[in-house]
Amino acid sequence: IPASRDRLRIAIQKNGRLAEPARALLASCGMGWRESRDRLFCYGESLPVDLLLVRDDDIPGLIADGVCDLGIVGRNVLAEQDGARIGAGRASAFREWRALGFGACRLALAVPEGWEWKSPAQLSGKRIATSYPALLGRWLTREGVDAQVALLSGSVEIAPRLGQADAICDLVSSGATLAANQLKPVVTLFESEAVLAGPIHALDAARGELVELLLRRLDGALRIRH
Ligand code: PRP
Ligand code: ZN
Ligand code: MG
Repeated sequence: IPASRDRLRIAIQKNGRLAEPARALLASCGMGWRESRDRLFCYGESLPVDLLLVRDDDIPGLIADGVCDLGIVGRNVLAEQDGARIGAGRASAFREWRALGFGACRLALAVPEGWEWKSPAQLSGKRIATSYPALLGRWLTREGVDAQVALLSGSVEIAPRLGQADAICDLVSSGATLAANQLKPVVTLFESEAVLAGPIHALDAARGELVELLLRRLDGALRIRH
């Protein structure tokens, strides 16, 4: 879209688990911002790099559409949306520039605590609630399991208690949410953490150089942390 844009734009989560660590990491790269009154946009003051504060699920689309040049987002969100694109016969749109070492979690299949778990074949004919239909669908196909997928955009964990599903496939971090809903994780489908992502195609020279500069600073910041 904005081919002539000469400032780099990075999408980060507005609220949620990745919001603060993402800003802190960028600040440790020497960036400072002036925030717009509606808190949707941060204008970079030390570098021509601006932040867009959005819902994490919107970040891959903003990158794919060229509205943003980079994004800090969970690898799970990126993989799900890329999986959906590929499933629809479209090309992969994203590249993972760096893994950022925070926001670790895993996409897991979880079943009621009372189930005796033996193998994925137990899920045949069952309903599985998830917000990750592409990643779950790929795993079901690979395992040769014919299950029904119920798509929910949130509160997936309560679906079994509501009789809406038999099992779920959702993100697990501490495991507290599963435990609170009498569910237990039985298979890990995908390991995730926050990543710096960009489009698969190259940026124009000016913004490409800004990305290079940012990556050098980021690598320095990540080295100090580890
Ligand atoms: C995620 C996930 C689970 C929860 C797991 O939701 O969907 O609900 O965290 O974390 P735990 O294992 O530490 O309990 P989150 O609240 O991050 O965001 P969401 O609104 O996108 O579901
Ligand atoms: Zn989300
Ligand atoms: Mg949740």
